[in-house]
Amino acid sequence: MDVLECIRTRRSVRTFDETPLTPEDAAAVLSFAEKLETPYDIPITWKLLDAKRQGLKSPVIVGTDTFIAGKMPRVPHAEEAFGYAFEKVVLFAESRGIGTTWIAGTMDRPAFERAMDLRDGEVMPCVSPLGYPARKMSMRETIMRKGVKADARLPFETLFFSGSFDTPLSPEAAGTLFDALEAVRLGPSAVNKQPWRAVVCGDTVHFYEKHNKALRWRTLNWRPRRAGFPLR
Ligand SMILES: Cc1cc2nc3c(=O)[nH]c(=O)nc-3n(C[C@H](O)[C@H](O)[C@H](O)COP(=O)(O)O)c2cc1C
Repeated sequence: MDVLECIRTRRSVRTFDETPLTPEDAAAVLSFAEKLETPYDIPITWKLLDAKRQGLKSPVIVGTDTFIAGKMPRVPHAEEAFGYAFEKVVLFAESRGIGTTWIAGTMDRPAFERAMDLRDGEVMPCVSPLGYPARKMSMRETIMRKGVKADARLPFETLFFSGSFDTPLSPEAAGTLFDALEAVRLGPSAVNKQPWRAVVCGDTVHFYEKHNKALRWRTLNWRPRRAGFPLR
């Protein structure tokens, strides 16, 4: 499957059909993750976790016991490196018909961190369930998606600019950058806040984060201090 097609078809899956992940799919996802090179060369340790056996819970996930998680040293740029690698794993899973959801908040974080054998100086930013999507979403998932307008994204012109923040960039004016910027626009984000903004200046694209006080407040209050994955 073409990567842009995967980006277009992917959605968060929180309701699975109870079929255990096949050993082939489990091995393929883990081996894909382990071979990934990350920006800034920051190593990530990946593990497949068994929720039932290891006593792990995410209140929003039903119908699968398999999760994937990664941990890494808490160093500058760890967030970017992890985000890049985790989304690649998510898109690889999508190409095999395996459902995923980035989970940073709605999980029993201490239990997941224990299962990952998280040490001081390490961070486990997110986990994801792995499984086969159920035909019908749970009521909770349907309500969650409506609550964050998960099927919608901000318009291209709201996210991307030309030269400075004074001039919105239209899809037509993006030219050869259109596919890359559209891929950014369609990406998943916490609470679907889509915090990225980009200004195209000649052959350089400058990326910015639009801060969100409410999200920061919730993030900081959902997580034990030790887990800290600062959303500045
Ligand atoms: C960094 C990050 C953290 C997220 N954390 C959670 C979470 O804790 N629980 C959850 O149900 N979804 C979580 N999500 C999934 C988002 O809610 C979802 O990507 C967004 O609503 C867009 O929907 P879509 O993925 O179906 O396109 C997270 C996504 C990202 C990128």
